[in-house]
Amino acid sequence: MAESAGTPEWDGATGDHWVAYEEKYNAAMFRYGERLFAGAGVRPDDRVLDVGCGCGQTTRVAARLAAEGSVHGVDLSAAMLARARERAAEEGVGNVRFEQADAQVHDFDAGAYDLAISRNGVMFFADPVAAFANVRRALRPAGRLVFVCWRAPEESAYSLVPRAALGRYVTVPGPPGADEPGPNSLADPDRVRDVLGRAGLADVQLEPEDEPMYVGADLDEAVDFVLNRQSLREPMAELDAATTAKATEELREALASYVTPEGVLLRSPAWLVTAHAPA
Ligand SMILES: C[S@@+](CC[C@H](N)C(=O)[O-])C[C@H]1O[C@@H](n2cnc3c(N)ncnc32)[C@H](O)[C@@H]1O
Repeated sequence: MAESAGTPEWDGATGDHWVAYEEKYNAAMFRYGERLFAGAGVRPDDRVLDVGCGCGQTTRVAARLAAEGSVHGVDLSAAMLARARERAAEEGVGNVRFEQADAQVHDFDAGAYDLAISRNGVMFFADPVAAFANVRRALRPAGRLVFVCWRAPEESAYSLVPRAALGRYVTVPGPPGADEPGPNSLADPDRVRDVLGRAGLADVQLEPEDEPMYVGADLDEAVDFVLNRQSLREPMAELDAATTAKATEELREALASYVTPEGVLLRSPAWLVTAHAPA
C-alpha cells in the first residue's frame, strides 16, 4: 500500500520495528493511554474509530469500554494490523475490526462513529487539515475527537538525552520541522487549534499531559530500547565495536539519572486534545 509523503515507512521498516518492540512501546506509552481514556469517556454503546491504531492496544481497551458498541482500528502498517488482529483474538475481544487504511483519505462511512480516538497516531499526516476533515466527516453530528500527541522535542528528555549522549559519535537525525509530518507536528497549540478549526471541528481544547515515557525496567532494557529506535539503529550500526561500546556507555551514564523505582522514565510531554464535530 502506498504511503503518504512525509510519513515514516509505517507500512515497512518502521511498522516492523513497532511490531518487534510492541510490548516495549505499549509499556512506554501506557500512561498516555490512561490519560486518553480518562479524557475520551468511552460509553458502552459507542462506535469508536481508533486512528493509527498500530498493534491495537488502545483499540482493545476501547472495545472493552464500548462493550455494547464496536471499535474500528485503522492503520497504514499491515504488520502492525496483523499483530493487532492476533492480540484481539488471543484476548477474546470480539467487537473490533482492523483495516489497513490511510486515515487522511479513507472513504469512511459518513457519520458512522460517535468517537474517534488516537494515541500518538495523528501527527504524520501530509495534509493535516484534509486528514482531520476526513475524520470529522466520519463522526456523527457532535461526535467527539480525543487524541494524545507529543509536544516539542526541546521539552522532551526522550528526544534530548540520546541526542546529547550519542551526538559526538553519530549523526542523530533531527526532528522534522514543526509544521512537517512527524511526531511533533501538533506540538504548537495554536497550530492544533488552527488545523482542527479549519478541518471543521469545534471546541478544541488542549490539556498538558506530563507523564513520561517508560523506556525499561532497568538500565539494560532502557539502553536496548533507545539504541534500537529507528533514528539511532542505522547510524549506530556504522560504528566500529570499540566506538559502539564507548557510545553505549555514555548513553548508559546519561540514562542513569532517569532510573526510578518505577523504571527508567524519560520526560516526554504531550497534549490531550479534545474537539467535536458540529452538532
Ligand atoms: C507512534 S505510532 C502509535 C501507534 C498506536 N496508536 C499506539 O499507541 O501504539 C503511530 C501510528 O500511526 C499510524 N499512522 C501514521 N499515519 C497514518 C495514516 N495516515 N493513516 C492511518 N494510520 C497512520 C502508523 O502506522 C503508526 O501505527
